[in-house]
Order: sequence, then C-alpha cells, then structure tokens
Amino acid sequence: MVGRGRELESILAALAAGRHLLLEGPPGTGKSTVLRAIADSTDSGFEFVEGNAELTPARLIGSFDPAAVLKEGYSPEAFVDGPLLSALRDGALLYIEEINRIPEETLNVLITVMSEGELHVPRLGHVSAAGGFRLVAAMNPFDAVGTARIASAVYDRCCRLAMDYQTEAEEVSIVVKAAEDQLGGRAPTEVDRSVAMVRDSREHPDVRTGSSVRGAIDHVLLCTELAALRGTTRDDAGVTLDAAQLALSGRLRLREGSTRSSEDVVIELWEKHFRVADETDGETERSESDPGKA
Ligand SMILES: Nc1ncnc2c1ncn2[C@@H]1O[C@H](COP(=O)(O)OP(=O)(O)O)[C@@H](O)[C@H]1O
Ligand SMILES: [Mg+2]
Repeated sequence: MVGRGRELESILAALAAGRHLLLEGPPGTGKSTVLRAIADSTDSGFEFVEGNAELTPARLIGSFDPAAVLKEGYSPEAFVDGPLLSALRDGALLYIEEINRIPEETLNVLITVMSEGELHVPRLGHVSAAGGFRLVAAMNPFDAVGTARIASAVYDRCCRLAMDYQTEAEEVSIVVKAAEDQLGGRAPTEVDRSVAMVRDSREHPDVRTGSSVRGAIDHVLLCTELAALRGTTRDDAGVTLDAAQLALSGRLRLREGSTRSSEDVVIELWEKHFRVADETDGETERSESDPGKA
C-alpha cells in the first residue's frame, strides 16, 4: 500500500470504537485497497460484497435451501447464511462496495441492523450481532445511481471518511508497483508523464470526471505491450498516443454541453504531455511522421 497512513489510522480508530464506516470517494482512490489492507492486518473475519441492483435482501441475508426444507422443514440447519448473517454471527466486518447501487429494501435491512444490532429473519428467528460486527460501506458520491437516497439514514449511523486522489509522487509509486512485471521496479520518466497526463484529465475544462490512477497504470502497461508488438520503444509517439486512447477515452466523463469527443480531449492531453516533451528532446519529429523510413 502506497501512503494512506492517515486514512488507515482513521479506519482502525473507527472500527476499534465500534463504529460503522462510510468511505466516500471517486473510483480508483484506493477504497478497496485500503479495506483489504485492514482485512489482512486484523484477526476478525471479513465479508466482501459487491453492491449492485441484484443484491436482494435474500442474497445479503441468506435463505432456506428448498431441498433441505423439503427433507427437514424450516430448521436452522436448512438455512444457508448470506454474507450479512455470517458477519453478524462471527462478529466480522461486512464490506459493501458501491452501497448506493443496492436496492432500497436491501438498504433498509442494513439500516435496521445498524440501529438495532440484530436482525429478524422469518422462520429462522432473531440473530444478534456478535461483538466485532461492523459495516464498512464504500460509495462514489458523484455516481448518478442512488446517491441521494443514501443521505440521512445511513450518514447518521456511520462515521464518514472522504478519500480523494493521492499526491503525484504517490500515484507514480502506485503505477510503478502495479506495473512491476513490465518495469522491473524501475521508474522511467514515461511513468511520470503518464501520471501527469492522467492528473491533468481531472482539471480539463471539458471533463466532468477525469481518470483515476487506474488510467495511468493502464497507459504504462499498454505502452509496453504496444511497443513490443511494433518492435519499437515505449516512448514512440504512435505508441503513447494509441495507448492513451485505449487507457483514457472510456474513463473521461465529459461535461454536459461540451461539444468535444473524449478522443479529442485525449489527443489534447497527450499532446501536452508527450508531444511537447518529444520536441524538447530533439529532432525525433521527422522519423516519427514516417516511421517506415527510420
Ligand atoms: N494507496 C495505494 N497503494 C497501492 N495501490 C493503490 C493505492 N491506491 C490505489 N491503488 C491501486 O489502484 C487501483 C484502484 O484502487 P481501488 O482500491 O480498487 O480503488 P476504489 O476501490 O476506490 O475504486 C488498484 O489497482 C489498486 O491496486
Ligand atoms: Mg473499489
């Protein structure tokens, strides 16, 4: 894990105090990574759940196995625990990604558990939260889906930690680590340029949401692979531009009313960070415009 010392400390403090926690930040700001680091460092169990529209209460809580019910009736042995029930019984952490995307009824189940510390399951009975049970939820506050209804009921029962993008130096370290196999732990200047280009996408006037560090990781990996396929170097202009389109054009959310395409904006970002640097490097222009002659 690169940096994030203060966030790790805050999460550990909240969990030790027996609080539920909401992590809020744009995609790619390390919410899952931080939680996995916490999970690895504690003895208490962990249940990871992907939050989406298909996460029904039955999937979260668990349900009776029909075959077992036919054989033995609605006995506790016929019940198959879902992640929420496992976490309650074991006093474990329940981590829910993208909580804003889960259906209303499922959200209500969680709110009940948070306020009452127990859950009533029809035909099974009451299940109380063992000590150590905590809910940790993550969400992207700018997600178009369901962020409004999360508001008061959940916020009032949780502590909240905002996760923003890390510093430029930390993002370079994250990329170098993620592309370790390709880079062999070295940090060539192209990585600096990829990270700078990606950070710039977050400030571009036509862009509502720019790329996270994931875009920089992809750009560096793609430059390496494209260069190998084309038998050229990783800083070749055609390589860095095609890699930028692959890595970034789908990650930029343009502002409403913008007349540009995301490919167009990627070219502009690429020109600023890769084209300009080429020109100051020397006279590589001519051979690049006609690589066949090189
Ligand atoms: N602080 C960090 N240290 C190491 N890797 C990180 C860090 N932050 C993000 N990453 C990497 O960036 C990517 C996105 O992080 P992730 O935790 O999945 O973000 P989120 O859950 O907020 O969308 C992952 O590949 C992860 O390995
Ligand atoms: Mg995540």
